[in-house]
Amino acid sequence: MLYELSIVVPTLNEVGNIELLCNKISNALKEINWEIIFVDDNSADGTQELLNQISSQHPHIRAIHRINRTGLSSACIEGMLASKAPIVAVMDADLQHDETLLPIMFAEFSKKPLDIVVASRFAAGAELGDFSAKRELLSNMGNLLSRLVLKVRLTDPLSGFFMLRKEVLHKLSPRLYGKGFKILLDIFASSKKPLNFIEVPLRFNTRHSGESKLDTTTALEFIGLLCHKLFGKIIPVRFILFSLVGLTGVGVHLLVLTLLHIVINTQFIWSQTIATYIAMTSNYFINNSFTYRDKKLHGKKLLFGLLSFYLVCSVGAFLNVEFASLLYEMHINWAIAGTSGALIGAVLNYALSSMFTWRKTKT
Ligand code: GDD
Ligand code: MN
Repeated sequence: MLYELSIVVPTLNEVGNIELLCNKISNALKEINWEIIFVDDNSADGTQELLNQISSQHPHIRAIHRINRTGLSSACIEGMLASKAPIVAVMDADLQHDETLLPIMFAEFSKKPLDIVVASRFAAGAELGDFSAKRELLSNMGNLLSRLVLKVRLTDPLSGFFMLRKEVLHKLSPRLYGKGFKILLDIFASSKKPLNFIEVPLRFNTRHSGESKLDTTTALEFIGLLCHKLFGKIIPVRFILFSLVGLTGVGVHLLVLTLLHIVINTQFIWSQTIATYIAMTSNYFINNSFTYRDKKLHGKKLLFGLLSFYLVCSVGAFLNVEFASLLYEMHINWAIAGTSGALIGAVLNYALSSMFTWRKTKT
């Protein structure tokens, strides 16, 4: 066997951490034949150059460079699938994950018939370090929601540090969602049978250098993963996401409608029309960076996309205004009339925009 253990490390602008991480892993794994696979998404801070240099000097350190791609989960999946060893670990590059746990986690596989070992920030004996109160609250909420799709009780289903048998990954990989940050939850939720696991307590360190890539889209992508696992086979995830964005549009719509019609007394039909276009613009930008993140339009295409979105949605908007006005003339409450119009428009918008605005592009 060439290698006993592969360590997959996703990187996005981690130049200040890589050398130290390699040294630490090397020191921690004296008894084990290991390889490291970095998966870098075209970092702009010199990570790529550094990885090229290191991997040219060390045969057991490799780097996969991805261009025009982002996403922590998909980076981890590609790294794991490229591994040459029967056991694969995933860990952050920023030294938050204690590398001295690697040999301990590895040893567990020879003690018991295990599928996966998880380093948990919430198991007995674990420490969170200076995790902010806000992050802890978010983490707890995430844990709770994760139970919706989990078949086993994990203390830390959102951990980014774990080790598994590659055979297990091969079996479940066609069912992975593969988007977003939460690869461990994806793995557990994608396995047909409950995975055989144990947890080891993790002392979570502070990030050594650079910044966290966790942002608000991460939370939204987490909802995407839950939706996929809960309804993926019945309703397309994209439609669920589009509807969620649509809901924010209804909020924007009602806000503008209230301002125009109630506060400054504009005629209803004008208020409804203007509210529709403002909501459409806000929906377009949110959809572009969230629902269609994988097909995100930039530069000139962003502008043309907006125009095509207006165009296809004008059909929806026309019916929306007509319908809402009809209800309004029937003395139905202005808010109910406005919302109903917006909802009718939304379904048409989804169908048409998926055909024309974010149409499938050949890759
Ligand atoms: N290739 C690639 N592509 N790598 C990425 C991307 C990406 O789009 N986004 C982030 N990374 C890399 C970072 O460079 C880092 O090595 C690792 O993924 C984790 O990103 P951080 O930005 O450090 O995330 P975090 O510390 O806030 O959260 C992490 O740790 C938590 C606890 O273990 C993540 O792993 C969470 O999923 C996890 O809950
Ligand atoms: Mn981190």
